[in-house]
Amino acid sequence: MSHLIPTRRGPTGRPCRVALLGFGTVGRSVARLLLTRHSSRFTLTTIFNRQVARKKVDWVPSSVRWTDRIEEALESADIVVELVGGVEPAGEWVRAAITAGKPVATANKQLIAECGDELVQLARRHGVALRFEASVGGGIPVVRGIEDGLAGDRLVSLAGIVNGTCNYILTRMDEGGAAFGDALAEAQRLGFAEADPTADVDGYDARAKLVVLARLALGVSLDPASVPCRSIAQVTAVDFELAREAGGTIRQVSSLERDPPDDEAPLTAWVSPAFVPVDSLFAGLHGPQNVVITRGEFGGETTFVGNGAGGDPTAVAVVSDVIAIANGGLPPQVASSGRRQAARDFVARRYMRVRSARHQVASDAIAPALARRGLFAEAVLETVGDAGGAVAFMLAPTTMGPIEEALADLEGAGSSLAVLVLPVIESNRARAAVETAGIGAATGRIAPIGTRAS
Ligand code: HSE
Repeated sequence: MSHLIPTRRGPTGRPCRVALLGFGTVGRSVARLLLTRHSSRFTLTTIFNRQVARKKVDWVPSSVRWTDRIEEALESADIVVELVGGVEPAGEWVRAAITAGKPVATANKQLIAECGDELVQLARRHGVALRFEASVGGGIPVVRGIEDGLAGDRLVSLAGIVNGTCNYILTRMDEGGAAFGDALAEAQRLGFAEADPTADVDGYDARAKLVVLARLALGVSLDPASVPCRSIAQVTAVDFELAREAGGTIRQVSSLERDPPDDEAPLTAWVSPAFVPVDSLFAGLHGPQNVVITRGEFGGETTFVGNGAGGDPTAVAVVSDVIAIANGGLPPQVASSGRRQAARDFVARRYMRVRSARHQVASDAIAPALARRGLFAEAVLETVGDAGGAVAFMLAPTTMGPIEEALADLEGAGSSLAVLVLPVIESNRARAAVETAGIGAATGRIAPIGTRAS
């Protein structure tokens, strides 16, 4: 325990020395925060970055050393802040810091998702803190909220929006009619997106965060590669139009559930663009905001909401970790089970949109193909535009299997269709909206195509 720093200042009474690894969007905000709001307690000694010369800025005092040598950064620190991102070489540098007895605060979700158990064990062995509040939900204290605040409950599920870039893109498309590419470029300019934004768009960033949350909330170590992950890149303006007709909109949702709520039961975990009711909290989030809703056996639902991306909100989480480390504290317990696989598929109502240049071909071909695979449409929505129009089905609860079989049948018939399938997030209000609009009367068969009820 000799390496803990349970004092208001450093181990020797001087301010705690902090080394910053990485000087990107979040790194710059952390440096500003330490230098302005927290200078009496912390001294920023070193900034480490590869190709450090091109990173230097004049607002950092000359007392701060700039280096591209990791050893130099580690030796000058009481606390190491890792903001490099990615599994390696960031993982090697975090291990080196821990092994040298330096507590670490990191925002690195990929690293914690892939190597969290190992790193937490290493930190415990060396008696140093490892904190990762900023790895999920940007400035929202969801890691500590679950780890400490809900420790007394037994959590059984959680769902949330945990990627600010996707939420920004989808809300801009939804409310401002922005094109996907333009909205993504804005998210990059505003500092929300990852260095490679495909990690955001294709769901890998949210998947890593879901794996971190699974460890904290359910105490399970989930294999990231086993979590089904769907891209938002296929969502188009017509999907928002159709979703609105059915009382909803589209957001990237991450979901984790132990069902039935039993420790050994299979886990359902997925990341996907999803249909969400227009009156839901998910639909109400704007721009880079995130939300995580947990459900506990004893405490019921708890909601964490706030700014999930961007330099300053994320820096708040990082600096809060630095303060917690300085106050003393060990890393949390590791997951007790071995690494688990997520179930590949799950039952949900599904929104299924089919577009075809030859609209009537799509409509006529698809209804029988769905019926043959036992799929039941609770509602049918249609739109006809310059591009030939689209038809969307609200399918009764099903796994993806029969849908994929029906699509394979259609491929066999030589159809060239653009298909998007989304899980539907349930709420009583969403069902009511469908019923009152008269577009979803359950008739026990596929509703006739081309007779849009309204
Ligand atoms: N690219 C991430 C996001 C940054 O958009 O949510 C915060 O983790």
